[in-house]
Amino acid sequence: MPDRVYLDWNATTPLRPEARAAMAAAWDFSGNPSSVHAEGRQARRLVEDARAAIAAAVLARPEGVVFSSGGTEANALALTPGLHRGAGPPVQRLLVSAIEHTSVLSGGRFPAEAIATIAVTSAGLVDLDHLRNLLDGESPALVSVMLANNETGAIQPVAEVAELVHAAGGLLHVDAIQAFGKIPFDIDSIQADLVTLSAHKIGGPKGVGAVVLADGLQGLEPLLAAAGRNSVAGLEPRMWPGFPALVRLPRPRSRRYRQTPSGSRICGTGWRPALPKRTE
Ligand SMILES: Cc1ncc(COP(=O)(O)O)c(C=O)c1O
Repeated sequence: MPDRVYLDWNATTPLRPEARAAMAAAWDFSGNPSSVHAEGRQARRLVEDARAAIAAAVLARPEGVVFSSGGTEANALALTPGLHRGAGPPVQRLLVSAIEHTSVLSGGRFPAEAIATIAVTSAGLVDLDHLRNLLDGESPALVSVMLANNETGAIQPVAEVAELVHAAGGLLHVDAIQAFGKIPFDIDSIQADLVTLSAHKIGGPKGVGAVVLADGLQGLEPLLAAAGRNSVAGLEPRMWPGFPALVRLPRPRSRRYRQTPSGSRICGTGWRPALPKRTE
């Protein structure tokens, strides 16, 4: 019997063997994914495979996946003024629930005067009446509500939140970092416009996260001007395979994408939880 048993898996999880193996294999690729020669293309394939696997896990499109150096950076990136859909108006204000992670509470790139806080009930759930009031009458907002809380475990009514937000012409960001791999969901079932994820909460490497955009969402600007649209400057792409190594899909990706019923509630369409499958 060990002296101590580590149980704080909401804070972080031990690296799982399949994630370590996927990264170890990737370290052996010497190519730079930006190079056009064979080595570069090989490294690029690794990166794009990782992107496709993460997209498939939440039934989004690979073009919508932007890797980041963790969940904190993913949230900072997601909270961008000017996000919009098609000809819709760009969001210029931000509403965050009072129980969000600090990386959301800090408001990303929104100025302090454009940020308001949504109250929560005594059960630790977003107060929908307060949200309705905050949405009322003003310009369209980006609303950020997490799927599962990192301290209380309370699962938020994100589908109801989405209905209110979209009816008011706003957009919804869902920090799904504590839910990914534990609660089946996909980007459509929770009606999110953006979702953020982090690898180290499910046995992946620390320092790898992702923003996943729903179809048609536009206006996400890189945090660093030097970074491309689907990447982040300075991020080590050889760690990325350590994230999708943990994602197991119950059915083929493309068919499942088309089958996703738009507007459904959280349902069993997501991938199988990775955590209970420990064999070592
Ligand atoms: C809900 C939530 N959001 C964001 C983060 C930040 O993720 P990361 O540690 O990958 O920066 C955490 C991690 O504690 C979290 O629990």
